[in-house]
Amino acid sequence: MATAAPAPKANMGKPAPRLDARAKVTGEARYASDVPINNPAYAFLLISAIAKGRLEWLDLDAARAVPGVLEIFTRENTAELKKIPFSAGGGGGATSIQNLGPEIAHDGQIIAMVVADSYEAAREGAYKIKASYAAETPSAGFGSAGTTEEDATKVSERHKEVPQAGDAEAALAASEVVVDAEYSTPTQHHNPIELFTTTCAWSDGQLTVYEPSQFVYGLKNTVAKALDIESDKVRVISPYVGGAFGSRGQMTPRTALVALAAKRLNRPVKLVATRDQGFTIATYRAETRHHIRLGARRDGKLTAYSHEGWEISSRPDPYVVAGVEESAHLYGFGAVKTKVTIVHADRNTPGFMRSPPVVPYIYALESAMDELAVKLGMDPVELRRINDTMTDPIKGKPYSSRSLMQCYDEAAKSFGWSRRNAQPGSMRDSDWLIGWGCATAVYPTHIGTATARVRLLANGEVRVQTAAHEIGNGAYTVIGQMAAERLGVPVSTVKVELGDSSLPPAPVAGGSNTTASTCSATLKACDAIRDKLFRAAVTADDSPLAGRSPNELKLADGKIVSGDGAGEKLEDVFKRLGAGAIEEYAEFIPEGLKPESVQQLYAGKGALTGGAHGKKLMYALGAEFVELRINAHTREIRVPRMVGAFAAGHIMNTRTTRSQYLGGMIWGIGSALHEATEIDPIRARYVNDNLADYLIPVNADIGEVDIILVPEEDKDVNPAGVKGLGELANVGTAAAVANAVYHATGKRIRDLPIRIEHLLGA
Ligand code: MOS
Repeated sequence: MATAAPAPKANMGKPAPRLDARAKVTGEARYASDVPINNPAYAFLLISAIAKGRLEWLDLDAARAVPGVLEIFTRENTAELKKIPFSAGGGGGATSIQNLGPEIAHDGQIIAMVVADSYEAAREGAYKIKASYAAETPSAGFGSAGTTEEDATKVSERHKEVPQAGDAEAALAASEVVVDAEYSTPTQHHNPIELFTTTCAWSDGQLTVYEPSQFVYGLKNTVAKALDIESDKVRVISPYVGGAFGSRGQMTPRTALVALAAKRLNRPVKLVATRDQGFTIATYRAETRHHIRLGARRDGKLTAYSHEGWEISSRPDPYVVAGVEESAHLYGFGAVKTKVTIVHADRNTPGFMRSPPVVPYIYALESAMDELAVKLGMDPVELRRINDTMTDPIKGKPYSSRSLMQCYDEAAKSFGWSRRNAQPGSMRDSDWLIGWGCATAVYPTHIGTATARVRLLANGEVRVQTAAHEIGNGAYTVIGQMAAERLGVPVSTVKVELGDSSLPPAPVAGGSNTTASTCSATLKACDAIRDKLFRAAVTADDSPLAGRSPNELKLADGKIVSGDGAGEKLEDVFKRLGAGAIEEYAEFIPEGLKPESVQQLYAGKGALTGGAHGKKLMYALGAEFVELRINAHTREIRVPRMVGAFAAGHIMNTRTTRSQYLGGMIWGIGSALHEATEIDPIRARYVNDNLADYLIPVNADIGEVDIILVPEEDKDVNPAGVKGLGELANVGTAAAVANAVYHATGKRIRDLPIRIEHLLGA
């Protein structure tokens, strides 16, 4: 690592309450669109009612006549906006489809924006625009006529090579037992409770953007490019985000449009897109299909793994998650063969959503592993044990740490797995068929270049500034804990400022890298402050610490103390320095990233490393067990209990970690049993684009959830020893549920979500 400070221990790992908890429960933490703005105008979008074809004309007369309507933005008067290339990484454009017509590339494409004195007038104006289309027959998705296919490695920047090892076809042909099965996952939408909003205000040529964001530096630089202005003319403010889940890491076309409107009208403009518009003006998780073949010996040792995946994307953009990049490292597979195909349809461009690569691919693999265990007549936990590995089956790299079987053993014990009768349908309780299932959770450990500025006052007050993002991940809290730990002050005296592009940059809040990256930068800045203080103490003749080595010193309770009991108050050290405060700025560059990654970060280009990309494989792992009860008559599916055990390196805060895992497993239940965006196969339009029809789990759907934190030490991942965990726990859940459905009913459901109708007759 670039900085080799020892992993701090004392303060860390405590269940410190969220620093932002009070702000959130009192409403002091505002959504971007609730920030008070002087004299705003209001924008309302008009979106396409067809998925493919041409917008022939717009009749704006009736809309212009609505009292209060100020201006209507269409392609006629927005041509000065520069086109932003699609970018599959953090930052950049979420889609290359940015034109307001005349070509229509997907349902719900923005074709006009009405700006008025009130929201109501803008909405009425939008409703009164008449649009005429020349519609063509769109391709909605898999199985539709007119889709085109591309090999992911040929078009995706992020997936140039797919994992391969040995001769998988030959190994499969020679395998004693083979599972050959197809799986599918549906379209899902993030549906963050905070809508897709943008408020823009100009002042003296400076633009301020209030928008929920997972990457304020990305948004700042990208909106500047679209407006063709210098990036230092733009500031993005997003201190709290009401849910993101991957939908807010890149710029969507709305931001530049609102910024242009505010400039034109010389007045702040606020856009709050509706819930249904959010389904098409931002990204989503595209549907996937999988063909898996697993080969094994009779004793359970895997000999071959072939995984072919298909993913839907828009016509122009090669978005793909290609989760084989992660799944291929999971077990000692023997020979491996993978292939990912992008299927282009007339759809908006998909994007990151909640553990994007692993959720669909691990669902398929972990279902297939269960099918293999059934075929072998073997306990599914034992099948994982036999194939557990500390070595990458693809390149032979070692894992930096891996505690998968410890997770299985702890979760199995707590769950009572040894009492399971493996015979499907055998664990019936009167009218309820009981099913027990398990599966592996895995998530790559990511880290990125990050910067932070820390100031320590003589009275022990600390301020940390970094443009990281609080998306519910507990960023304020762990960054505050890190500074408190290093500077020997209570967390309550640390003020953390995040989510503002006027602060030093931090990476996109994606890939679960935030804690590792920003805490490493915070630690480095704190250590620079310590160095200054310690040097000032040991080099002063009149200090009780004179002549000591800085290495023997510690900061605690507002004092510098040495191992031999000598100490000096911070105030006195500051007095000698003649300063009221010490401020340090630090740049943290993880091993594997280049020094220029700092400049790139300032320019809004984040880069993450880790997972399978370093010298060692870096992954967090877990094991999830679920109990289902399926009504023998109605096939109603209930989930009375779940147990998840997870190992993710050093845990900074057991309370926020537990919350992340709880939330993750609940999302997993959503994926398993509820969530799916329905698409009209003829018109290629989303049908259930509202929170009444888009099903998500509610309290009544969730029973007991037992979370076990399995201790793990990892000195390789980063100075703090932490692995990202926010996206870990929703990875294994869907497969665990599907496996439990099989155990309860004897019926293997390979297409998500699993609903009553799939089990009728089972
Ligand atoms: Mo998350 S889907 O990596 O923003």
